[in-house]
Amino acid sequence: MVMVPKVKVNVDGNVVEVNKGKTILQVASSLGIQIPTLCHDPRLEPFSACRVCMVEVERGKSSALITSCNTEATDGMVIRTDSEKVLKTRKMVLELILSDHPKDCLTCDKCGSCKLQDLAYTHGVRESRFFQQPDGGVTNDPNPVIQQDTSKCILCGRCVRICAEVCPSG
Ligand code: FES
Repeated sequence: MVMVPKVKVNVDGNVVEVNKGKTILQVASSLGIQIPTLCHDPRLEPFSACRVCMVEVERGKSSALITSCNTEATDGMVIRTDSEKVLKTRKMVLELILSDHPKDCLTCDKCGSCKLQDLAYTHGVRESRFFQQPDGGVTNDPNPVIQQDTSKCILCGRCVRICAEVCPSG
């Protein structure tokens, strides 16, 4: 039997021993700690595009903000998922994503079924400080089941990656 090496990690004060190779996001999730994500999909390779899953990792006397979906948890790591620095940065990231979305994005009728809108609400984003007029809009693709509106795209790449990685022959 192959023994998988273990690492000890501290997430928000919870010390846990996990198999080496797990991402910070996976370790946090195993502890019941939810880190918000937008571009992450467990079926796909980490893409690290949205930066919403940012956490703070202690580095000696200082700390660094890193994305949890693609960063492996290493032995002795001390991680904060909800520090003031994390929440402030995450709020700014959401504002940047919303900056070229339609101005009514936060109040549109997708209420309750839009993860970006939900995250904006829970992080206290009521408008984007960086708002600029959105590019794009509804494309002319006649597909009967999919409507593409590029002004609402979050550039997570999931639509392309799912075709390439999950159903490459489809
Ligand atoms: S979920 Fe980690 S960068 Fe998007």
